[in-house]
Amino acid sequence: MDEVKVCVIGTGRAGMVHAINLRWHVPHARLVAVVDSDAERAGNAAAEVGLPGKGVTRLADALALTDVDALVITTPTFTHAPFVRDAAAHGLHVLCEKPMALTVTECDDMIAACERASVTLQLAFMRRFDPPFVQAKRQLEAGEIGDPIMVRSLTRGPGLPPAWANDIKTSNGMLAEVNSHDFDAVRWLTGAEYEEVHARGGALKRPDMRATLPDFYDVAVVSARMRNGTFGIIDGVCPSEYGYDARAEIVGSRGVLFAGDIRSPGAARVTREGGAVGTHYASWRERFAEAYRAEATHFVECVREGRTPAVGGRDGRAAVAAVVAANRSLREGTPVRVDA
Ligand SMILES: NC(=O)c1ccc[n+]([C@@H]2O[C@H](COP(=O)([O-])OP(=O)(O)OC[C@H]3O[C@@H](n4cnc5c(N)ncnc54)[C@H](O)[C@@H]3O)[C@@H](O)[C@H]2O)c1
Repeated sequence: MDEVKVCVIGTGRAGMVHAINLRWHVPHARLVAVVDSDAERAGNAAAEVGLPGKGVTRLADALALTDVDALVITTPTFTHAPFVRDAAAHGLHVLCEKPMALTVTECDDMIAACERASVTLQLAFMRRFDPPFVQAKRQLEAGEIGDPIMVRSLTRGPGLPPAWANDIKTSNGMLAEVNSHDFDAVRWLTGAEYEEVHARGGALKRPDMRATLPDFYDVAVVSARMRNGTFGIIDGVCPSEYGYDARAEIVGSRGVLFAGDIRSPGAARVTREGGAVGTHYASWRERFAEAYRAEATHFVECVREGRTPAVGGRDGRAAVAAVVAANRSLREGTPVRVDA
């Protein structure tokens, strides 16, 4: 296949990052349609990517309108499972945003549907394509810091996500919406599956949210024991208000690696009155811009060449299993074993 014809479903925050990349920045990709259940959003998105008339409200309409090889799923988490099953039923390859789904059972169904249909299933853990994280992983694999002992991974989001993502019932809460990437990073960098997690959290930034969402939390700390005896520490704060912050620290038997930085590589300013002022990342779009393009490029290459993606359904499932256990731990106040 020389060119992969891609449709994006869900033209919100993440959807537009993918749509713009696939339209202009991913070799051998051709964005052919965008879908959003909100007709105005679908129309606006299609206009923004220069595909007037190719913004529709249902996947079936997109498939009737044009040839499609692959579907990028960027709708709210609770819709991922039905859309992946739908895509597989139509023989479409899938790039699915994180979190893969709300439950491990849904993840198993999604993996099985894609395997039965022999279609590619890639999960959108873009840190796996981010140069600082990739460099850390390579050095780790080359034995530069000895064996991994402990991985600390954190994400702090600048502002509250859309309403559905604050409701634990439709999103699994902040640990899923914001910290899914950390759950994946700890597993990827320790090279091991989760054994047990112990989570604590609270609503310290936006206690007012509990008036309508009693389970809402905006600060969480998770300690994890991995099956190879190593440890993980995850923290999340959202809204952080100070900007977007995603970093990892990998402690090894002979050294330590740091991936990511709160400072963006912009100009620093020093004045007598203001002291030294650097630049920071305002959003995830900016911090991971290169990683999102690399992730989509990898997906298109895998589809074209029939290769298995570097990050797939089993990785998405492992993160969901750990998030579900961490949410239970947070509720019950005790450590929780993570299902194998
Ligand atoms: N990888 C990342 O860095 C990253 C960043 C942000 C969001 N995400 C993920 O992307 C997904 C979407 O998040 P978002 O913040 O873009 O959400 P959003 O609310 O901004 O956008 C979701 C869009 O999906 C549309 N939609 C809802 N239900 C639909 C349906 N049944 N059919 C078609 N369209 C539908 C909505 O109208 C909306 O336009 C989530 O899984 C989220 O976790 C990932």
